[in-house]
Amino acid sequence: MNFLKPFTVLTLIMLLFAQLSFAQEETTYLITDFDGNGILPNAWQSYGDLGSHGVVSAKPNSDGKFYEQVWNGSTDEGYIVSQSDITFRLIPKKKLKDKTIDNVFLRLDISCGGAPGTKINIVLVDGPNDCCSNDVNWQYSFVKNTCEWETIEINLAEFGYAYDPSNHEKSININKVGRVKIGVDVFSGTKRQLVQFDNVALVVKDKVAVTGYDPSASIADTNTLKNGAKDFFVGIAVNPSRVQDANYSAVYTKEFNSVTAENAMKMKSIFKGIDSEGNLNLDWTNSDLIVDFAEANGLNVHGHTLIWHESIPDFIKTFTGTNQEFESIIEKYITAVVTRYKDKVDSWDVVNEAITDNSSALRPSVFLERMGPDYVKKCFQYARNADQEVKLFYNDYNLVFDTQKQKGAFEIIDDLMANNLIDGVGYQMHIDYNFPNKQALQTATALIVKRKLLVHFSELDVKTNPKGAIAEFTEKRNNAQAQKVYEVVEVYNAIPTENKYALTVWGLKDDDSWVTPRYGFLDWPLLFDSSFGKKKAYAAFIQALEK
Ligand code: G3I
Repeated sequence: MNFLKPFTVLTLIMLLFAQLSFAQEETTYLITDFDGNGILPNAWQSYGDLGSHGVVSAKPNSDGKFYEQVWNGSTDEGYIVSQSDITFRLIPKKKLKDKTIDNVFLRLDISCGGAPGTKINIVLVDGPNDCCSNDVNWQYSFVKNTCEWETIEINLAEFGYAYDPSNHEKSININKVGRVKIGVDVFSGTKRQLVQFDNVALVVKDKVAVTGYDPSASIADTNTLKNGAKDFFVGIAVNPSRVQDANYSAVYTKEFNSVTAENAMKMKSIFKGIDSEGNLNLDWTNSDLIVDFAEANGLNVHGHTLIWHESIPDFIKTFTGTNQEFESIIEKYITAVVTRYKDKVDSWDVVNEAITDNSSALRPSVFLERMGPDYVKKCFQYARNADQEVKLFYNDYNLVFDTQKQKGAFEIIDDLMANNLIDGVGYQMHIDYNFPNKQALQTATALIVKRKLLVHFSELDVKTNPKGAIAEFTEKRNNAQAQKVYEVVEVYNAIPTENKYALTVWGLKDDDSWVTPRYGFLDWPLLFDSSFGKKKAYAAFIQALEK
């Protein structure tokens, strides 16, 4: 048996090395452990409304102590904030050499403390406690549905900027970011909420497991977007000249099975005037072109949009008749459009973008002014009266992360549901390469699913240059965009079949997109490049469907 000895020693040495290299794969920097063993156990303070309404305490549990935050305030949010001496600067710079935010994770133990469904915000701040005046203020939000203690680990790349879009471009400098804020956002239901947490730590990993989009995987040329999507439509925004262009129409019909008119079915495109008898002058040239194209090629049509504050002919804006006359014109208009495309258009965005940004209030518009706060319901009713079968959608942007707007939208949606006037909700996916995060997409999507409505991820485009910081499409942004597309498709595909409707891309080629002209920065937001070449984002779309 002696001959085994050198082998055993060698094995032991190898095992030791394996242990060492395993140990080096992850380094934990404890920020707080309320047992008192952490770096700075008592340096958390309440902030904002929590100070006057809530209770913050370190409480004993089986593990010694944890931190508890009780929210019982009259407004919507409260935070506790680690103080300035608990900083990520505790991580020695040399340890972060060659690391990016992809390597760094925030890990903590968390319990909802008795209120399942509590929305929790974790914010990384640099600067004073106040949320919005900081240089860097990145937020991760999730809903804690179970009250079990659990350890969660969030990649810093998953944090998105929550308040000021001008900060989207800032990367988290892990030597610079200073504090951790943990807070409760009372979205609905009872104001009394509770969060308990412990063992807050930053974890730096040497290797990051590849999740999501894999740039090295190839996509067979025979694959198409529509074939990958088994139980929903893959839509594309089109316009009249492009459906008549063979280069475009070949890709439209090969890759997609649904179309939306980017502009041709808007009020400004169709509604040309009112004669002295009160008859509407309607021009169907462009809308018919698109519907005929769809019919000829067996494509679904999602109608966009009957009422939108950005597409109103001047004679409607300046209409001098009575409010009753105004309302009757709108009713006639909706009735005429829906009736013309009965059995041809499967679904309509009835009212588009009715809620004000960062608010739950209706957006000021001529419709609100002339028809009153019930105007949305009235428009849905006119559409329903014209066609009992057509699917009716409410469509808006930023609903994934603007929680005030989300609240306002779902008040409208719930009211429409109570009157049996709505079939689905469109989340316009005009998003950025690094925002919003997957969790936010999932949480917001669940709000539609739980109401048993159809989900439309409408108007997908992913900005890669939201601040104009880059002059050319870098490999890094290319991959980041692909990863974001992967997440969007992954989240959509995970919706139960009965709630799926369509995922619609807002244009074909990068140089066709509304983004560059609107924002004034060169951007590459779509799935195809300017030469009709498939981008990584295209491959990511298919990969997410094959998952
Ligand atoms: O067709 C005219 C052209 O003749 C003229 O020379 C040119 C000069 O500006 O304008 C052209 O019209 C433009 C039209 O797009 C077609 O390119 C309009 O100015 C321009 O305002 C219009 O922008 C559209 C925008 O909605 C406003 O209707 C974008 O293409 C379209 O992508 C965008 O889509 C909206 C959704 O409907 C709702 N959600 C937001 C989304 C992005 O803003």
